[in-house]
Order: sequence, then C-alpha cells, then structure tokens
Amino acid sequence: MSALLLAITRWDPKEWAERFQALSPAREVRQWPDGVGDPREVAYACVWMPPHGLLATFPNLQAIFSLGAGVDQLLADPSLPQVPIVRIVDPDLTMRMREYVTLHVLLHQRRQRVYLAQQRERLWRDHDQPAASEVTVGIMGLGTLGRDAATTLKRIGFQVVGWGRRPKDLPDIETFHGPAGLDHFLARSEILVVLLPATPATEGILKLSLLRKLKRDGPLGGAYLINAGRGRLQIDADIQAALDEGSLAGASLDVFPIEPLSRQSPLWSHPKVTITPHNAAASVPRTLVANVLAQIERFEAGHPLSNVVDRDVGY
Ligand code: NDP
Ligand code: OXD
Repeated sequence: MSALLLAITRWDPKEWAERFQALSPAREVRQWPDGVGDPREVAYACVWMPPHGLLATFPNLQAIFSLGAGVDQLLADPSLPQVPIVRIVDPDLTMRMREYVTLHVLLHQRRQRVYLAQQRERLWRDHDQPAASEVTVGIMGLGTLGRDAATTLKRIGFQVVGWGRRPKDLPDIETFHGPAGLDHFLARSEILVVLLPATPATEGILKLSLLRKLKRDGPLGGAYLINAGRGRLQIDADIQAALDEGSLAGASLDVFPIEPLSRQSPLWSHPKVTITPHNAAASVPRTLVANVLAQIERFEAGHPLSNVVDRDVGY
C-alpha cells in the first residue's frame, strides 16, 4: 500500500500522526521532516503550511490534502505538483466557525465589551439594546462556512445579507455578488462577517475605503467588523484608522496579515478590538482524519475526490 506523508508546520503534528496511524494501520504514515523515507513511495500528502518546494520532491504523488479549509499558502508554492488539491470541508470545522461567528455577532449586538468594561468599574448602567431582528449582518463569502453562518444568524433572528463571487439563492437571505453588488451589500451591513478566502482578487479588500461604506446609522449606532477569513484580506492600519475615526465601532479579529500578531501591534490594546489567535475554527485530528481517509478510500476505489480546489480561481 502506498505511503501517506504528513507535513505540518505551526500545529503539533503528533496527534495527527497518531490518529492517521490508528485509523489506517495498514498504511505507512511518514512524517516530514525526519521520517520521509523513500519519496517515491509517497502517494498522498496531508499538509498544513508545508514549506514551499517540499511537495515537488515526491514524484508519485496522487493528491494533496489540505488539513485546513484555506489553501492560499499551498497555492503560493511555485513548484506545487499538478495533482488534485483537496481542502477540508467537515461538519466539525463548520460547527466551530458557526460558534465563533455567533459568539462575536452577539458580543457586538449585545454590547458585551461595554458591560465587561463597566464591570471592572463596578458600574451598573443599562444601554439601549436593539433586538437581533432590527440589526443586519452582512456575510462576505457565501461558501461552506459563510452559508452556514448566514442561516444560523437568520435562525437567531438577525436580518442577513450576503455577498459572493457568483449569484446565490439562499432562502430568506438577500444576496449580492461581484464588484457591482459590493457597495449595495456594504450599505446594508451593520455587522460585517468576513469568511472569504485569500486570493489575488480578495487580498487587501478590507481597506479603509470599504470600511467607510458600512451602515453606521442603524439601530446599533455604528458598524462592526468580524474577520475570521484570512489576515491577508485586511490592512491592519486601515482597521485601526476606521476605529479611530468612527467608521468602525468595534472589531473581532481572528486572523492577521502576519501571524502571530506582533506584540507591538496597537490592535492588542485597542479598546474596541477583540483578538483571537487564528482559532475561530480549529482543524482537529480527532474528527478530521477520518474525513481524509474516507476520501482516499473512495479515490482508490475509483471514485472522484470531493472538495477539489480550483487552482485558477484560488480556492
Ligand atoms: P469556500 O471555498 O466554501 O467559500 C469561499 C466563498 O468566498 C465562496 O462563496 C466564494 O464565492 C467567495 N469568494 C471567493 N472569492 C471571491 C471574490 N473575489 N469575491 C467575492 N466572493 C468571493 O470556503 P469556506 O467557506 O470553507 O472557507 C472560507 C475561508 O475561511 C477559507 O478560505 C479560510 O481562509 C477561512 N478559514 C478560517 C478559519 C479560521 O480558523 N479563522 C478556519 C477555516 C477557514 P462563490 O461561491 O461565488 O465562488
Ligand atoms: C483553515 C484555517 O483554513 O485554520 O482551516 O485557517
């Protein structure tokens, strides 16, 4: 049986290796950098942020499995072999992103940061509280994660609008698409949730001129940004400027152009910013390894792979 290679940086590979071996005892699981063995025997590479150039050293590779949903780092490898790239789409990952988005939308809509600050001051003060049904959340990116977030927020009672690359039909959710639909979408969005991939078309999209187009005169009295997509979508200095000038009333940021976020970044201590360390939806070996192995099994039985990345569009 052909070997499976694990090449993982930034995450601890140990649990991945143990899980792959436990669920697929007949297959040899090789680990980069020290246990690669004969590269000709490797048919599948399961990776997260592998060093560029590495995958080109396996001449018999048949498929690359990204253990995370985003494939921007992988596609930036100039020597990436011309084999299918499969990205993770899994109910566990989707559930985790649903939790993050719901938490942070409610954090802003229920003004929880204000109450936490007041508690530190022992201050008993009520603030005007619009209901979810009065607030419009805009979801940028209506793929697996964006659609799930949109329908969840709708179910809670929010008004929801969405924006993507191509037209979409989602029950009870007004959608916009392409550059022509962007301004209409932004003008409706009081809380902007970003679940876009980083591609040449989306890089730097979250700039000051865009943030200024968000709806500020709604019941929340300001606009909020939640970015759980990719750091390269955003320009940190523009977010800071938007917060300081009032175009943004608050932001939840899970991702940054350079990670980890520098300890010197003023965003850490900004009173309107909530930061998490790129863990909005963690990839967890306990659940995701079975997903990858099921794909390999189907592939070896002659069935097509699912969730194959379109290299031409970049996700
Ligand atoms: P999908 O590929 O399923 O969805 C991507 C969506 O973005 C699609 O709806 C697509 O539109 C839209 N899109 C892409 N390019 C453009 C564009 N130029 N203009 C407008 N819309 C565009 O991805 P997922 O939903 O699974 O994941 C989204 C991203 O979330 C990942 O790429 C990753 O970067 C990030 N992520 C972050 C995590 C975290 O922990 N912070 C965890 C997991 C993922 P269309 O459908 O019309 O093509
Ligand atoms: C992912 C991520 O893309 O963790 O899955 O960011």
